[in-house]
Amino acid sequence: MTKMVVGNWKMNGTRQDIDTLRTLCVMVRAYKVTCEVVLCPPWTLLTRFRDFIADNNITLVRIGAQDCHDTRGFGAFTGDVSATMLGDAGIGHVIVGHSERRAGHGETDAIVRAKAEAAIMAGLLPILCVGESLAERQAGQTADVLARQLQGSIPDWATADQLVIAYEPIWAIGTGKTPTEAEIAEGMALVAGVVGADFRLLYGGSVTAANAAGLLAVAGVGGVLVGGASLNAADFAAIARAAG
Ligand code: PGA
Repeated sequence: MTKMVVGNWKMNGTRQDIDTLRTLCVMVRAYKVTCEVVLCPPWTLLTRFRDFIADNNITLVRIGAQDCHDTRGFGAFTGDVSATMLGDAGIGHVIVGHSERRAGHGETDAIVRAKAEAAIMAGLLPILCVGESLAERQAGQTADVLARQLQGSIPDWATADQLVIAYEPIWAIGTGKTPTEAEIAEGMALVAGVVGADFRLLYGGSVTAANAAGLLAVAGVGGVLVGGASLNAADFAAIARAAG
């Protein structure tokens, strides 16, 4: 299966970063990457980036969102954006259930499931994040936590072509501490044990240009979700190159 490389810019980026996008596009073309590259900038840059991709006939890089509301369509939800609106804006991918939103915005598994449902119904591909905290890992609860998150946040009816899963141990996000390859393989196997072998599974957490090739070679890893390193075009392009 083609690997997927997703960049999550989080709350970073200004309009000058059209130059970052331009450099990324030039580099992935020069590298002749065949993997799927998705860049998720903040709301303020979504349509600007989408227009750049469309106006320059770029097919190697796609633009995704970092979140959507759990309600489909429209409504009185100040500050929120629905998957319907993202689809209308020409956005095809959306991250849901990132640990920073689960922790910082009180997103429960039920809310994440509703977001994934809304995204799929709107024709988007949700990239749904799960992962254990350091305390949960140290308490030997990783398998239970992953099973609970997966069972609670993936719509029962979702098929493997409708949803991508990202395994992101919370303790590896933004810390520079990547799990060992054995730990990642174990995490992938735990996820596959719950959802089946068909879903594409990404690994996320301190992925860099230097460690990407090794992480992408781990059994079960179908791609990577990249935070900090995706802010640098050369680093993110190198990660995409490592994905094939
Ligand atoms: P990081 O973030 O690559 O900066 O660790 C990953 C993520 O939060 O998706």
